[in-house]
Amino acid sequence: MNDQYAVIGNPIGHSKSPLIHAAFAKQTGQALVYSALLAPVDGFAQAVDAFRAAGGRGMNVTIPFKLDAYRYASDLTERAKHAQAVNTLKFEGARVLGDNTDGAGLVRDIEHNLGFNLAGKTVLVMGAGGAARGVLLPLLACKPSALTIANRTPQKALDLAQRFAAHGTVRASDYAGLAGDRYDLIVNATSSSLNEQLPPLPPRLFAPGALAYDLMYGKGLTPFLAFAEANHAQILADGLGMLVEQAAESFYVWRGVRPEAQPVMALLRNAA
Ligand code: ATR
Repeated sequence: MNDQYAVIGNPIGHSKSPLIHAAFAKQTGQALVYSALLAPVDGFAQAVDAFRAAGGRGMNVTIPFKLDAYRYASDLTERAKHAQAVNTLKFEGARVLGDNTDGAGLVRDIEHNLGFNLAGKTVLVMGAGGAARGVLLPLLACKPSALTIANRTPQKALDLAQRFAAHGTVRASDYAGLAGDRYDLIVNATSSSLNEQLPPLPPRLFAPGALAYDLMYGKGLTPFLAFAEANHAQILADGLGMLVEQAAESFYVWRGVRPEAQPVMALLRNAA
């Protein structure tokens, strides 16, 4: 029987992960089956136990279970510890490795697919929730000259800046406090696009050649990317590349083989 993998979440019906991993398996010639698993919101551990008992080898974890998965894992990677969230589980007998590939997916999309080198750049991350926590360590590992975290609730940005201070020059701000700053990269890690909203950004934040990256994706420009375009950001990117690259990184964690993400990104864009 082929090795079994799955994405677990609630809801799960719209997940693109089965399509992405089926394409990766075909591309790399790996024999595996990847399905989508809907679990009750209070039934994560039971659902994972059952999947493992049936021979499952690994899982992707999505909303609302990334914290449950963090707690479920017996071993955590550094990047999962810093994110305090797990999106990838690998089952090895009695042990369960918990990893987080979201930040690596973002960095790979930025540096490899978009050709934007992060070293020495000024970076602004908007948001201080789970999505922001997941990307901070991999971003800092690329040695930007400074990274600012801005959040509507400033205390949460301050807490994060303190927690990551050992990994680079990190400062916290509210949105008004950004006035006069210039950034080479601005990442929207807030959930504001979900409500068609935009954090209250001051004008002229984008340095020449700047990249605007929204972790969300959908049809057309998100409110943040529309703002970025109007404010002369040079490169606009939504989260589709990150979605496919985090999946490629999970695939690598499980199989030791790294699939090419770009053909699968093209597949998804054409299907949209
Ligand atoms: P996620 O897992 O997507 O990060 P979260 O942990 O609930 O979700 O965090 C949501 C983030 O989006 C927070 O940083 C939140 O700001 P607060 O901490 O002040 O709540 C931010 N956010 C959501 N809607 C926003 C809006 N309309 N404007 C600015 N920030 C917003």
